Amino acid sequence: MSCHFKFLNFLLIPAFAVFLISAGPAGAKAPCEADGILLVAFGTSVPEAGAAFKAIDSSFKAAFPGIPIEWAFTSQIIRKKLAARGEKAASIGQGLQALAKAGAKIIRVQSLHVMAGEEFGELARAVLIWTQKHPGVFKSVYLGRPLLESREDAKAAAKAIMSKSFADRADGEALALMAHGQEHGRAGLVLEGTRSEFAEHDPLTFLASVEGDRDFDDLLADLEKSPARKVILAPLMVVAGDHARNDLGGDDADSWASRLKAAGYDVSVVLTGLGEIPEINDIFLRHVCDTRDDLIKEPKKP
Ligand code: CO
Repeated sequence: MSCHFKFLNFLLIPAFAVFLISAGPAGAKAPCEADGILLVAFGTSVPEAGAAFKAIDSSFKAAFPGIPIEWAFTSQIIRKKLAARGEKAASIGQGLQALAKAGAKIIRVQSLHVMAGEEFGELARAVLIWTQKHPGVFKSVYLGRPLLESREDAKAAAKAIMSKSFADRADGEALALMAHGQEHGRAGLVLEGTRSEFAEHDPLTFLASVEGDRDFDDLLADLEKSPARKVILAPLMVVAGDHARNDLGGDDADSWASRLKAAGYDVSVVLTGLGEIPEINDIFLRHVCDTRDDLIKEPKKP
């Protein structure tokens, strides 16, 4: 399956300006000390997928009223394409630079990745390199970890997805979620832990990924073992971008939707990114504050 993202012009969408102005309820207090926030996502090609980024931006602005919030994309391909179109798409270094320019000293960088894979590793490295090249600019740079880091996170995500976002599913209707996954590293293990928590919350929820060891055939085998003949397909990704629209719900014969239909299932596709679910953004808002990982100081030992 293809794994390329094009991208998104969300920074230029006029509606976005509204979010820049609305800084949240007056007098509200930030949940933790910060005077600059950098939100870091992979990025996306699909303009409609921008709804998830806008919702996340809005949640953070409401929680941190009046505090500058910058965005950066980890995908160099997306940034290059955006730049070629004359659109704004900051790298991590550029995002940090913008916060420095705003005079921020205590920075919170929040990963908007679903799992700590390759992209998160690159994010951590990019922040470290930038802070080492620019000593003394920031007092602290805290790195908030991705969405699914603990059992608590997986339980909260299960609740947000199954009991909120998909609460009105018909009896006996399965929910099959497409994660991204990756070929190597621990992503497969995180996926298994998440899958186990999700199945405990709702035995008719199934999970597989575009990359990694749990693929469509595993999903189909799981569905065949269940009584479900109706399936809702949705992405377990922050935005419903290229993978969700093509590999998951596309009309091509090799999309998950087409293959399930060919196997006799009654299939519906919901193109909602996780970032559009408020209870998912609550997990990111918890992670932005619960990290003690200050990248410009020696690790604290208990
Ligand atoms: Co991909």
